[in-house]
Amino acid sequence: MKVPNAPNNKVFLTGRHFQGVPTAAVIALKNPFLRVTVIDRDEFRIRRWNSAHLPISEPELDNIVRLARDGSKACSVGAVKSSLAQRIGARSSKISIPAREPNLTFTTASSKSIAEADMIFICVNTPTKTTGVGAGCATDMTAVEIVVKEIAVNAKTGAILVEKSTVPCRTAKLVQDILDTYRPRARFQVLSNPEFLSEGTAVENLLRPDRVIIGSSNTVPGRRAAAALAKIYTTWVDRSKILGTHVWSSELSKLVANAMLAQRISSINSISAICESTGADVHEVAKSIGLDPRIGSQFLKAGLGFGGSCFRKDIGSLVYLARSLGLHEVGDYWNQVLLINDLQRNRFARKVISRLNGTLIRKKITLLGFAFKKNTGDTRESVAIDIIKVLLEERPAEIAIFDPCCSVAAINSELDRLGNHDSLSVYTDPYQACLDVDAILIITDWDNFRMESTADHGNTKRPQSSIDLTSSTSTIMADRADRFFNLSNDQYLPEPPCPLDCPECAHSFPGFNIEEHLEWARISYHMKKPKLVFDGRSVLDAVEMEKLGIRVEALGKAERGFTLF
Ligand code: UGA
Repeated sequence: MKVPNAPNNKVFLTGRHFQGVPTAAVIALKNPFLRVTVIDRDEFRIRRWNSAHLPISEPELDNIVRLARDGSKACSVGAVKSSLAQRIGARSSKISIPAREPNLTFTTASSKSIAEADMIFICVNTPTKTTGVGAGCATDMTAVEIVVKEIAVNAKTGAILVEKSTVPCRTAKLVQDILDTYRPRARFQVLSNPEFLSEGTAVENLLRPDRVIIGSSNTVPGRRAAAALAKIYTTWVDRSKILGTHVWSSELSKLVANAMLAQRISSINSISAICESTGADVHEVAKSIGLDPRIGSQFLKAGLGFGGSCFRKDIGSLVYLARSLGLHEVGDYWNQVLLINDLQRNRFARKVISRLNGTLIRKKITLLGFAFKKNTGDTRESVAIDIIKVLLEERPAEIAIFDPCCSVAAINSELDRLGNHDSLSVYTDPYQACLDVDAILIITDWDNFRMESTADHGNTKRPQSSIDLTSSTSTIMADRADRFFNLSNDQYLPEPPCPLDCPECAHSFPGFNIEEHLEWARISYHMKKPKLVFDGRSVLDAVEMEKLGIRVEALGKAERGFTLF
């Protein structure tokens, strides 16, 4: 059976770009009659995508990849009861699921896969240029240029190209120009279909998107191509959520969405500085204004500001676009969002130094958290790096780092950018990291850095680990209807086996059970006086910590000893 009017082969060209594979996997899951191929030049990553050790850690992604890549046996499972069924005490029904053929492939063989494709998604990395014209702001289009040339040479005429990567406005024209140069007689359609996934919730965002934007040219073939792409989404997304726009609007929407989200974070962080000097509490201010539905409560969490591979680069791209159009005031306006973000982490680092009497010599500082946000092992654009840079200037005896999910290798490779420093050490045990420490800095908002409350007992949220297929039962979204089923391990088809010398199987787990909250009493016992914790993410309850003898300093709150009246 074939999905009517939808081309049959889909190819995703990915790289270090994070969103390509989750999108490919969900499209494959929801369209079992399509063949989806993910191409990456990096053999190491492809080897891991073809194994039990996926290279990125996202909740539920492992189950979805497994189902689409390996298939499953025919089985019947108990459906999760609807709330109505639960209320009336209905017996849970069995649902039979037919066997599923694999339809997701990972390969490095690009030209052959491109030649067979009807639709090609460009999901390569588009980082910020580091040298040359526009360095530090403009988008580095090298990877896009390389894959478009490869597509031009290999793709069949009539193929549809879909920009998934975040790109500057009018990139579709650049793509079309490259295609025309290398295949002047072939006809291709170029669409823009940006992603709005957040790391840590990518699968959830894909399964239940707020909107799907499809930008096309305003021509009959352009609209036809957009309809073919929309058809793929309508297997699980309501049509009302699919918005067709012009291709330039779609490209720009992605940059503007990220810029507006980042702007809210910088706005509230600018207020946090005022709060510290006035006695107001930034979290109370955020709550008060967030109750206004015109403002809303999301992205008003004050703290160390935004990290990650998206916000900084996308605002940089917007600033560059505005300035290159001669709109300097517009460029300066958005650049200010970045400046406030830098200010916040500088203020934090300076506060640490000042509270430690202006010197870090012979002192040990521990950073808890390195990931740019909780529930991810992604270390790119970590806030920690900027803070470490400032602290290193004060020549501390040791800067210790612990993160429950980032691998030591990933942290070390980010630290390498700072040059060779003997004082930097990465730990897999938080208690060792905090032994005899002069000050602890909370950098990431991991739930298990919070003090455990009684409500948490038996209800600890597990941070995601990239290498965990041990649970016998997994909840997966089946590809029919919108219901959850429980599939047990033996209902999947076998995963590709690992070789005897598989390096990932040999990977040792950290000496910390990531399901547990930190024992702050234990940490406090081994801290040096005056037992300072600088909470950059507002995860700690200062009053409770005070009972353990720990003094908490947070951004956006008045300093200790500040009198309100
Ligand atoms: C962001 C956007 O939220 C996604 O919609 C977008 O698709 C994605 O970028 C992308 O372009 O690929 P992401 O960077 O994964 O997603 O994570 P966010 O949840 O947006 O957090 C970004 C940073 O902002 C984190 O460092 C987080 O700690 C910080 N943040 C977030 C705050 O400091 N305060 C807040 O209130 C919210």
